[in-house]
Amino acid sequence: MSDRIHTLSGYFHEYQKSVTQPEEFWARIADSFHWKKRWDKVLQWDFEGPDVKWFVNGKLNITENILERHLYTLGDRPAIIWEANDPNEAGRTITYRELYHEVCRFSNALKAKGIGIGDKVIIYMPMVPEAAIAMLACARIGAIHSVVFAGFSSSALSDRINDCGAKAVLTSDGNFRGGKKIPVKAVVDEALEKSSVETVIVYQRTEQDVTMKEGRDYWWHEVIEGEADTNTAEEMDSEDMLFILYTSGSTGKPKGVVHTTGGYMVYTKYSFENVFQYSPGDVYWCTADVGWITGHSYIVYGPLLAGATSIMFEGVPTYPDAGRFWAVVEKYKVNQFYTAPTAIRALQAYGTDPIEPYDLSSLKVLGSVGEPINEEAWHWYHTHIGKTKCPIVDTWWQTETGGIMISPIAGITPTKPAFATLPLPGVQLSIVDPEGKELTGNSVEGNLCIKFPWPGMIRTTYGDHDRCKQTYFSTYKGMYFTGDGVKRDHDGYYRILGRVDDVINVSGHRMGTAEVENAINEHPLVIESAVVGYPHEVKGQGIYAYVICDMTNRTEENLVNEIKATVSKIIGPIAKPDKIQIVSGLPKTRSGKIMRRILRKVAEGNLDSMGDISTLLDPEVVKEIIDGKK
Ligand code: WTA
Repeated sequence: MSDRIHTLSGYFHEYQKSVTQPEEFWARIADSFHWKKRWDKVLQWDFEGPDVKWFVNGKLNITENILERHLYTLGDRPAIIWEANDPNEAGRTITYRELYHEVCRFSNALKAKGIGIGDKVIIYMPMVPEAAIAMLACARIGAIHSVVFAGFSSSALSDRINDCGAKAVLTSDGNFRGGKKIPVKAVVDEALEKSSVETVIVYQRTEQDVTMKEGRDYWWHEVIEGEADTNTAEEMDSEDMLFILYTSGSTGKPKGVVHTTGGYMVYTKYSFENVFQYSPGDVYWCTADVGWITGHSYIVYGPLLAGATSIMFEGVPTYPDAGRFWAVVEKYKVNQFYTAPTAIRALQAYGTDPIEPYDLSSLKVLGSVGEPINEEAWHWYHTHIGKTKCPIVDTWWQTETGGIMISPIAGITPTKPAFATLPLPGVQLSIVDPEGKELTGNSVEGNLCIKFPWPGMIRTTYGDHDRCKQTYFSTYKGMYFTGDGVKRDHDGYYRILGRVDDVINVSGHRMGTAEVENAINEHPLVIESAVVGYPHEVKGQGIYAYVICDMTNRTEENLVNEIKATVSKIIGPIAKPDKIQIVSGLPKTRSGKIMRRILRKVAEGNLDSMGDISTLLDPEVVKEIIDGKK
């Protein structure tokens, strides 16, 4: 706990040190972990390649720092507390000792199936402890996990399986979510029709009927039978791949963001302990899904590295009613609660009645992540959930950053509604104008970049290093470009303004407009489409699609429903457009480029200031689009 920031001046001191002596700073933190062999050099980097290495030649296994490390000191402490979807179903508590044995047992089972160092393993599972056990079991034997959110469709799953060349898929028979029982294994079967996956292991959760393919598919409870519950973790290099996580960008298909072992370990634990001011014995709850980076870093790795008790919740905020989150907080006396603005806004719509029956006095810290939190939601969260005594940590970060980058240190950094406030130690931000000129001083607004490496950062995009360079390191020379707009106010506080590229953030989930357009275009009658985001009261942003179609034999209603179904099938229900407007043309420049600025304005209902449309090929189309606005 010596790396803990306790005061505001302590924060500034640490921050200063992390900038003037970054290697000494991170070496001190990394020294509190167990390394099988200490590193030769803390950092080696260039952002041109990019080529970034942390803790060069260090040898370790991240799971030793979660399991062996806590076995004797915290063996009886709950590592994971699992709350089922149905409040009447008993939860599960897995202590650090039990977690150690479960991970060993399952990793032995994976080895017995021929899975080992460097193999890619897809995890497509609901929110059950076995999902975390599966991730750790992979890490323990040096296999590289790639968790795919279980809401993605078979075609999205199949793209990811093929992109990383997965050898195995870990899944479940089904999934309980709210009032629904959702097939999971059946989606995997469809995804595997054209793939070379050798092994599928199925965790039984819903006991629904599934087809098991002889010689490929095995039950989880059968493969672990008779396996030893101890083993020795593989020795991995600091820069060995720990996992691949697919995320959407502004162009093409989702890319596999690669994180490596040593730096990610150091960064997630350090940021977890400091941002949330976790104290031993506290109960911490992050409501994300393990299919997203937040689940990776702040349900599994960060908290478990810190020896924390981490709650995993299978259900949804509104089942069986809108008081569910608060029932869980009361039940387990949650101390730190971390959720997304979209969930806060959804619950805000139910008023305060659902909160009243519950005792929330255990709460010490509230967190927010995934999208900008609007002031109204911030105040509601602060007043009604935190009863004005809990600091809110508005944490800005990304799949690519691995961990939290800009955030208050709970209870230490004075907060300001809707501001992520200040960078964590080690994070050197830069605000640039469109030409790449750094904007220094306070009261400036521009694009957010990071000019020095941090241990949790992306190393490459799987199978396509050039894409990593193009996407993140080419827009502004010598800097990592985040894709976000930001403002630094008169106090030097940062407020994230949202994406400045063609990425939309729907309920805290990243969607690429191109990705949604490609899915829409799969409908046989669609000729062309253009997708933009627009402000949505609950989701933050909604998806607005303009579509040119062949209308023969169809009504508009038929088509709209069919297009939504197509997107659900190609990507998943989360990508379904909220509004679809059938149009006869799209506003294009003479060179054929779609003018998204206009489409965005119409979708936002901002109809007065269309700007200059004289360069359009067919200015008439704008009038039609405005008249037909949904
Ligand atoms: C947005 C989620 C404002 C941002 C951890 C970023 C935020 C994208 C915040 C990354 C925040 C995340 N305030 N915006 N506190 N946190 N974002 O990869 O646009 O799913 O670029 O990572 O979410 O989304 P991702």
